[in-house]
Amino acid sequence: MDVIRTEGLCKTFYTGFLRKKIPAVVDLNLTVKENEIFGFLGPNGAGKTTTIKLLMGLIYPTSGRAWVLGRDYREVDIRKEIGFLPENPYFYEYLTGGEFLNFYGQLFGLTKMEREKRIEELLDLVGLREAKDLQLRKYSKGMIQRLGIAQALINDPRLAIFDEPVSGLDPLGRKEIRDVLLRLKDEGKTVFFSTHIIPDVEMICDRVGILNKGKMVAVGKIDELIRTGSKFTEITVTGLSREGLEELEKLRLKVKQLGDKVLVTAEGDEKVNQAVDLIKGRGGRLISLIPHKETLEEIFIKEMGVKH
Ligand SMILES: Nc1ncnc2c1ncn2[C@@H]1O[C@H](COP(=O)(O)OP(=O)(O)OP(=O)(O)O)[C@@H](O)[C@H]1O
Ligand SMILES: [Mg+2]
Repeated sequence: MDVIRTEGLCKTFYTGFLRKKIPAVVDLNLTVKENEIFGFLGPNGAGKTTTIKLLMGLIYPTSGRAWVLGRDYREVDIRKEIGFLPENPYFYEYLTGGEFLNFYGQLFGLTKMEREKRIEELLDLVGLREAKDLQLRKYSKGMIQRLGIAQALINDPRLAIFDEPVSGLDPLGRKEIRDVLLRLKDEGKTVFFSTHIIPDVEMICDRVGILNKGKMVAVGKIDELIRTGSKFTEITVTGLSREGLEELEKLRLKVKQLGDKVLVTAEGDEKVNQAVDLIKGRGGRLISLIPHKETLEEIFIKEMGVKH
């Protein structure tokens, strides 16, 4: 079963006196599978929050259809099985962390006993046990973000939808959030989160979708996305004769002298093999052979249509 599925989902906003048309989400076809961590990547204004609001039923699509946990996304019942962290969560700052979670537990109709047990579990999960009795105004940004996640999980949802859970956090704070997301996956849950921080996606996501100007411009497993990128290999050699160098150039390989070393750049496996055979045949010594793959960041920037 697809945990999230959209077909031709569109949302167009009309703003201002002239009703200027803003296509925020354009013909989006998205699938998120059971128990995967899906990273929804895109620059500011790409339409990530709009997509999430559509899935949560907070705004209505201009056209298209969507299913969450196998049911039409408009069915109110399924919200009970979704944990949601909005982009800019608001917290009443004079409550303590424990009181705040208790309040949400009551909203979800948990009994006092259930709440006590669940709140302890959640504080452990997000590493806030020590901060249970601290007022939220004394929480750091990272602690607030983790509390937001705990709140989103109060109902033990099957699906977590988090809008920018790592925004504004330092590297340690980001790692803590990544660890929480991985733990949710271990517990068998499905995680869908938006971000514009590429390394976080590379580290924990099973699949990633790149959104730009409302359109999904790339989607897949990270290694698949990277594999489709162009590859080249840098070979460093010493002790190669002049004739050897000339023969490498004849193979139409890029050859560059660096002091007593030579840097050869080859594209594609066949060229790499040819170069290595030639180097060995001519008494050259291989120092290193480094394949370069396109990084997710390079793919991201390319898909954004920016030249670099
Ligand atoms: N209520 C609204 N009325 C008019 N335009 C809107 C509204 N909400 C969003 N938009 C526009 O839709 C586009 C997508 O916005 P959205 O907030 O979904 O992007 P995002 O990918 O979440 O960006 P960010 O990374 O900055 O959070 C933007 O051009 C935004 O200005
Ligand atoms: Mg957003």
